Amino acid sequence: MRTIQTVKEMKAWSAQARRPLGLVPTMGCLHEGHMSLVRKCRSACRSSAVSVFVNPAQFGPSEDLNGYPRTLESDRKKLEDAGVDVLFLPGPGEIYPPGYKTYVNVEDITSRLCGKSRPQFFRGVATVVLKLFNIARPDLAFFGEKDWQQLETLRTMARDLDLDVTIESLPIVREADGLAMSSRNVYLSPEQRESALSLSRSLSAAREMFRQGERSAEKIRARIREIVEKQSARIDYVSVCDPRTFVEQEKIGEKALVALAVWVGTTRLIDNCLIERT
Ligand code: PAF
Repeated sequence: MRTIQTVKEMKAWSAQARRPLGLVPTMGCLHEGHMSLVRKCRSACRSSAVSVFVNPAQFGPSEDLNGYPRTLESDRKKLEDAGVDVLFLPGPGEIYPPGYKTYVNVEDITSRLCGKSRPQFFRGVATVVLKLFNIARPDLAFFGEKDWQQLETLRTMARDLDLDVTIESLPIVREADGLAMSSRNVYLSPEQRESALSLSRSLSAAREMFRQGERSAEKIRARIREIVEKQSARIDYVSVCDPRTFVEQEKIGEKALVALAVWVGTTRLIDNCLIERT
């Protein structure tokens, strides 16, 4: 596996890489969720690149940019073992050189759910991902469905800006006890790890209510809040919404996205599931 640190070198590699070329954008601290994307990328594409870049533009001033887990050596080994061709590892100055001024804003859908409590987040994500697309020129790019709103934002950006990239997504990968895999899980103490299970448990309860015929979005939201709060976790939002527009639903029709963000201690975790009539 080759490690590339500059935009110039990455562009040169991409220009001669075998097609289709797949890219998996990450912020590192790789877990099985990332690795499922990497394996899919490897099987679907003739060339594969994984970027590891902790993107300052998507963190708010009081967020965990400096403490964000960085595990470069173990990430490198995992990618090497998975047979990835290139690790793209730019420094912040390579992506945002002095005088940098351009940001991408996907409107409307980014103002809801995570966009409310993290107003800078989607602007930072869309900006860095567009830059990564322009630098690596992938034919396919792979993202996880845990960040469902991020995925929709990036699909919208790709469509609106006529990007020549196909965005593929893969389901959430969970620990054996149901906790959605996240790089931020490393922040959790054993007690917090237990509280964090309230996210996936409340989603299972929501799914079960829907299966038994409940169609009131508010009743489902209320049950989720009850389960989470019992575990002394602090709710950022609980949403039962349209999976494309993120507008809250009242009466659930064919399908809905059930999504939540919760503070467990100082760690903010997200999880979601789709509920739909079968
Ligand atoms: O999902 C992530 O890890 C990040 O938001 C992404 C897409 C790599 C952009 O920094």
